[in-house]
Amino acid sequence: MKFDLPEKASIETLQIDVRDVEAMLQGPAMKLPPFPGATVKLKDGRTLFIREARLDEAPKMMEYMERIMKVDHDFYDIVGARVYSEILGWYRHRLKDPYTLVGLVDGVWAGFANGRVMNEKVNISLHTVALDRGGRIGAVMYYAKAYYAFEMIKNTEWWATYESYNGWMRWGLGMAQPSYPWPEVQHELGGARVYYVTKNYWDQLIKDYVKQMAGGAELDFNVPDSIRKANENFTVPEGVNV
Ligand SMILES: CC(C)(COP(=O)(O)OP(=O)(O)OC[C@H]1O[C@@H](n2cnc3c(N)ncnc32)[C@H](O)[C@@H]1OP(=O)(O)O)[C@@H](O)C(=O)NCCC(=O)NCCS
Repeated sequence: MKFDLPEKASIETLQIDVRDVEAMLQGPAMKLPPFPGATVKLKDGRTLFIREARLDEAPKMMEYMERIMKVDHDFYDIVGARVYSEILGWYRHRLKDPYTLVGLVDGVWAGFANGRVMNEKVNISLHTVALDRGGRIGAVMYYAKAYYAFEMIKNTEWWATYESYNGWMRWGLGMAQPSYPWPEVQHELGGARVYYVTKNYWDQLIKDYVKQMAGGAELDFNVPDSIRKANENFTVPEGVNV
């Protein structure tokens, strides 16, 4: 849009440094506490180590998600495609206050969970993916990110939605989550229903969830150095095992 000038301008063309534009596009980040890393003993006896992914790990994660998005059962395709875009959004700083957790078994990527902090109150759950089935890795990853939201970031509400039957069964039904009236309230993932957990409900009921899912185990934040070392870097699974 060009308008006639109401006053003479000594310089008619302004130069803009894109770094200034970047500051406008990104906005200021919230100060989120780091997720300190935790282990969970899975019901099949393996130890899952959950830690924050590093930004330098994003390219290999996206490469693997390209393979997952081609899986045409259990909604891995749509979830894979959306997770790809969320990792890219985090990598390119186009997602507000994201957090990205990876679940690792002996240095191999086995689970994924991410979300973003909408504001001090609401945490938006984005996606959870099990890259290895049968160990309830997805169930545990989801619990870990909700734990991070309520216990560490100190959010008071959790907003989720479900693309898949397994996701809905694990957490919508599995955590007996209520939902807001729809379509009045919509989740940012495709305008679907918002299922929510309040901090009170978390304290009353859901803190017990992982114990039920992982055969009695809790998140253990006392992580031995040997486990941190074994999972300092991870490899993606050789094949697609879902
Ligand atoms: C939703 C999801 C994360 C749940 O992961 P999970 O908790 O590890 O559980 P799974 O889906 O692998 O397994 C669900 C059940 O079916 C069984 N199962 C399903 N497929 C299986 C397979 N290929 N091999 C072994 N067991 C399988 C599991 O043993 C489990 O049974 P259980 O409840 O008795 O433990 C996972 O199904 C997933 O990644 N789905 C695709 C992405 C997705 O839908 N994400 C959520 C978006 S809403």
